[in-house]
Amino acid sequence: MQASSGCLSSRNLAWAPRGQRSPMSLPLGPPKPTIRFRVSAVAAPPPPLKLQRTHSMPPEKVEVFRSLEGWASQWVIPLLKPVGQCWQPQDFLPDPTRPRDEFFDQVRALRDRTAELPDEYFVVLVGDMITEDALPTYQTMINTLDGVRDETGASPSPWAQWTRAWTAEENRHGDLLRTYLYLSGRVDMLMVERTVQYLIGAGMDPGTENNPYLGFVYTSFQERATFVSHGNTARMAKEGGDPVLARVCGTIAADEKRHENAYAKIVEKLLEVDPSGAMLAIADMMRKKITMPAHLMYDGRDPRLFEHFSAVAQRLGVYTADDYADILEFLIGRWRLEKMEGLTAEAQRAQEFVCGLAPRIRKLQERAEERARKMEPLSVKFSWIFNKEVVL
Ligand SMILES: [Fe+2]
Ligand SMILES: [Fe+2]
Repeated sequence: MQASSGCLSSRNLAWAPRGQRSPMSLPLGPPKPTIRFRVSAVAAPPPPLKLQRTHSMPPEKVEVFRSLEGWASQWVIPLLKPVGQCWQPQDFLPDPTRPRDEFFDQVRALRDRTAELPDEYFVVLVGDMITEDALPTYQTMINTLDGVRDETGASPSPWAQWTRAWTAEENRHGDLLRTYLYLSGRVDMLMVERTVQYLIGAGMDPGTENNPYLGFVYTSFQERATFVSHGNTARMAKEGGDPVLARVCGTIAADEKRHENAYAKIVEKLLEVDPSGAMLAIADMMRKKITMPAHLMYDGRDPRLFEHFSAVAQRLGVYTADDYADILEFLIGRWRLEKMEGLTAEAQRAQEFVCGLAPRIRKLQERAEERARKMEPLSVKFSWIFNKEVVL
């Protein structure tokens, strides 16, 4: 999407960023910012001065999660894979225990395979890798959630067990992508590493308010978004001549799918035990828009790095506004939200809002793209690929 001032404001886009870095998106700010590049579903951080709401779940609802511990042990924990059966990064990487020449041949083969992939592909792959590498932030975020957090660091509660093991599974994603990118020689690792350090230092603000209802809606959506995104980088690696990288991204995507299934199952259960409460939570998160986890990324140079990365992801079709609408529709179907009955009046309004949202997103996106076609494409330099320019 491209939009200029006076055109469709990103504030009106259901999938658009939760505000811009610019103060213009604050309620009383000056006129709307000019956006001269495609903004995807994943673009832009929340406004810096946004009030952060905390502990919005009524304390008595903590009991819901305590009462679901047995259920979680039976239905959620089994969705983890035993460590011995899990893939490890080393399964996909040159083997340093082989004789020296053989190891070097494997590295050379990796570099040959990645040589033909375009720079813009690496912008997206680096952005995905950085997102994975900020894992400490996500474990922290899940452990802000009342009633399900890991109280000790080694709590035996199934919620805490899940979060630790989920983190351990996720930890392989960034490790593998990072090593692969390092060996490819195609990216400026120093700038990539600096971006990771900035990002972990900045954290994230998904608007989940310590509320596990909101938290699990967020993670359901987010795991599917990463599934879609890694699936697309896999497809493009294959088309671009690197079947190993295709397997790498595809294998990560399969993990994300399994994780999505676990989180969506939890929300499904919440819809069963507390239909109105869960419906309100889904609507709340969709009203806020699902902020991507790396929305605060920065490399020390480009203050709009995340928006620029997202714009490239949108243009290449790795993660788009359409995907955002697809994910929403998928979850509406999976949770059977349209057919839910017995809701409070407020929750019925929430249901109507959620179930009518995807077509609205698509319509706005179509209009925005029409406008975008009339504009000059913009290019931006990415430090991750040695300051080469990429069209947004
Ligand atoms: Fe991941
Ligand atoms: Fe994930």
